[in-house]
Amino acid sequence: MSRSVLVTGGNRGIGLAIARELAEGGDNVAVTYRSGEPPEGLFGVRCDITDTAQIDTAFKEVEEAQGPVEVLVANAGVNKDQLLALMSEDDFTSVLDTNLTGSFRLAKRAVRGMMRKRSGRIVLISSVVGLLGSGGQANYAASKAGLVGFARSLARELGSRNITVNVVAPGFIQTDMTDALSEERRDEIKKSVPLGRIGETADIARTVGFLTGPGGDYITGAVIPVDGGLGMGH
Ligand code: NAI
Repeated sequence: MSRSVLVTGGNRGIGLAIARELAEGGDNVAVTYRSGEPPEGLFGVRCDITDTAQIDTAFKEVEEAQGPVEVLVANAGVNKDQLLALMSEDDFTSVLDTNLTGSFRLAKRAVRGMMRKRSGRIVLISSVVGLLGSGGQANYAASKAGLVGFARSLARELGSRNITVNVVAPGFIQTDMTDALSEERRDEIKKSVPLGRIGETADIARTVGFLTGPGGDYITGAVIPVDGGLGMGH
């Protein structure tokens, strides 16, 4: 496969693993990044997904370099954890703006080319907490749950154009985001995961590889949990 792929937040963590996995399969992979340098061997475009104009510019750069985006992986996301009583309105709306509205902006821009081509793959990276809930993460969980309704609506709208839209819901994965947790919390998490370990970025990358490859030809509107059994299929 040598498709034109865009992975948001593909400069580190889960996004980087996804970008490398698809590039190893032969795809032309672009990643968005916000600061520093893009990872070696991947085409980097600077983009903040809260800004529609930046998204449009990033897509134009990708289109020029490797053709219209055929596979979009909306991976970029943030969390600002706080108990509801202490959560500011900005903590809530800014997380929604990045995780949910950001995915709307990206998908809206990406489907232009996909509809013309009558083919495309969109994968949204949600989280196990979107469906399980998580104390102190009402903003994050709401944004990640929102992706499910969003993806399923797009799956219905775009199915006749041969565009699939799926959600991957990772559990606890070893990245900068989870490195911030205390040793004690990490041990607690391991105990609650039936497979008894924290996931690796490669676990998510392989699933995205499957969904965007021939294995995903007849899968749309699905939520695929990759969480060691933490969410028991939810
Ligand atoms: P990370 O913090 O290492 O990476 C997040 C990426 O998103 C970074 O590249 C960052 O620059 C980018 N990003 C954030 N806000 C952005 C914005 N406004 N515009 C453009 N890019 C932006 O996190 P990680 O762990 O790799 O997470 C990737 C995705 O997986 C996120 O959506 C996260 O919510 C999700 N996830 C992670 C889990 C974990 O255990 N690490 C569990 C479940 C879901």
